[in-house]
Amino acid sequence: MTENPALSNLSHETRHFDPPEELAEQANVGEDAYDEAAADPLVFWETQAERLEWAQKWDTALDWDPPFAKWFVGGSLNVAVNCLDRHVAAGRGDKVAIHFEGEPGDKRSITYAELTAEVCKAANALTELGVQTGDRVMIYLPMIPEAAISMLACARIGAPHSVVFGGFSPESLRNRIDDCGSKFVITSDGGYRRGAASALKSNVDAAADADGSPVERILVVRRTGQDVDWNPDRDLWWHDVVDRQSDRHEAEAFDAEHPLFILYTSGTTAKPKGILHTSGGYLTQTSYTHHAVFDHKAETDVYWCTADIGWVTGHSYIVYGPMSNGATQVMYEGTPDTPHQGRFWEIVQNYGVTLLYTAPTAIRTFMKWGAEIPSEFDLSSLRLLGSVGEPINPEAWMWYREHIGGDNCPIVDTWWQTETGGIMISPLPGVTSTKPGSAQRALPGISADVVDESGQPVPNGGGGYLVLTEPWPAMLRTIWGDDERFKETYWSRFSKQGYYFAGDGAKKDDDGDLWLLGRVDDVMNISGHRISTTEVESALVSHPKVAEAAVVGATDPTTGQGIVAFVILRGGNDEEGADLVKELRNHVAKEIGPIAKPRQIMIVPELPKTRSGKIMRRLLRDVAENRDLGDVTTLADPTVMNMIGDGLKSDKPSAEE
Ligand code: WTA
Repeated sequence: MTENPALSNLSHETRHFDPPEELAEQANVGEDAYDEAAADPLVFWETQAERLEWAQKWDTALDWDPPFAKWFVGGSLNVAVNCLDRHVAAGRGDKVAIHFEGEPGDKRSITYAELTAEVCKAANALTELGVQTGDRVMIYLPMIPEAAISMLACARIGAPHSVVFGGFSPESLRNRIDDCGSKFVITSDGGYRRGAASALKSNVDAAADADGSPVERILVVRRTGQDVDWNPDRDLWWHDVVDRQSDRHEAEAFDAEHPLFILYTSGTTAKPKGILHTSGGYLTQTSYTHHAVFDHKAETDVYWCTADIGWVTGHSYIVYGPMSNGATQVMYEGTPDTPHQGRFWEIVQNYGVTLLYTAPTAIRTFMKWGAEIPSEFDLSSLRLLGSVGEPINPEAWMWYREHIGGDNCPIVDTWWQTETGGIMISPLPGVTSTKPGSAQRALPGISADVVDESGQPVPNGGGGYLVLTEPWPAMLRTIWGDDERFKETYWSRFSKQGYYFAGDGAKKDDDGDLWLLGRVDDVMNISGHRISTTEVESALVSHPKVAEAAVVGATDPTTGQGIVAFVILRGGNDEEGADLVKELRNHVAKEIGPIAKPRQIMIVPELPKTRSGKIMRRLLRDVAENRDLGDVTTLADPTVMNMIGDGLKSDKPSAEE
């Protein structure tokens, strides 16, 4: 197993921090939850499911036909009603659901009563457009309230949504639309990013204009007011269609296993996987974990998750988890450095944010900008900090604790995946003595372990592969339209034991606490975004000048990993230098999206291959990280690495733009 060398010392960390007494005394979840769940995990999850409002109670907690699970069989509920109407009916309609802050500084606070009305109108509009239960609806929006409203409107009418992050290209959007056969897209004219209006509608047009596209209707939110091309047979303005609808909508209850959404994520091949999540189990776990891990108190907390709604964190911990718990939360459209590098801290101060959930990449960026910036703001409202998306190194953890958390906020480092739907491994803030850099242990009701090649659990102090040993309520149900790939990807590696293979390496320390070590497959983690090496490679070779490409994720002090590509040009093409590198980087951005732009592209004469023709990515990673090369004797041509090394010395790799 290859290991990220930057993380190999992690489990030697010996500092630990007990929960603040005041928090421990009033914590939503105490130590007994572990015992209660261990005694009978199904009863435990049934108890958590009771936190929701069901139209029809389930008969059976779990029907497990490995690897296919059904949770809360026979039960029915409406997910949107649980996130909205339920709070209004309980007299909390005037409570703010969303404090929206646009990047240019525009503000909008929306109460639960208002949000419910907006979602009802949007649900009526979708029905008028012809969206029926079971139809897939694509959502391609910036971080504006309409993103959450659209998702909840889809949930309300039982039309699974598929949100695509606004940073993905028309080509990526098109592949996702085609894969789930979506006739409907919700988008906007654009959004604000780093002070400029980005275009979204034109990307949707490009995807929908492609031959054979299933898209029939595009609903467009006006956000920036910029000009957009308009196809009157297909395009409709949100304000024309949604605003005139009734704010009443009778919500139907759907089966607990009714599809709630499909979210595409990168796998080890070029084709992204449509991860399918359903209703009852997903909402049970996201709601419970938001309540337990963030110790969320609806009466007093102001919660802020800085993720984008295009990723699973936005689905589970902006929309479904928090809203099912009646949270008041901040939603911010823009980037942390616009118009100044204190923007996040200004937001925390202005809204009195108490619970903050962000990513290590952001924390490391703030470290780089310097502690003086947050020190200019009043951050004393904060009482708990969360981290997600990639391993957090102890330095970043300590900086977060000291400079953001005033040395007295527990940090919850939460490990989970698009596939797991909800948080799986994390400290409990009122219970756990936290260790900088460790996600520590599986939550109550969750069973995780670290195993060796043969699937045997490693002893404390050992390392290996992270597995999940029992089904959990928010687990993915399949890959959309591809049960075989679902079995193969997650369940074949340890099929004898019947374990779910997460694709992550992990260690157990002497106390049995877990330390995540990053991916063990060909998936990179760039600023917490999953991108597959193969996906970037196939984008590169689709360029006419490229014959062959190999891509690795090299350790990066800020983004966790950075994409480094090695490219062989087609015969007769001896063009070199910065222009071509730039052209290739832009080509990848066009094919996949700007987030997949390689940090460096190195033009090389050969690639290191084994005798069976497999590219030795380990060697390329060593080159990219300036390490001495290990054993090269398995190479078909051992002189290749010298050629690459010599080539690199004469041709300096491109700098980041
Ligand atoms: C990584 C994001 C270490 C991991 C919720 C996983 C983490 C992948 C952590 C899933 C963490 C996420 N510590 N690694 N706390 N959280 N990861 O699907 O490699 O975008 O497999 O879900 O991110 O990424 P995804």
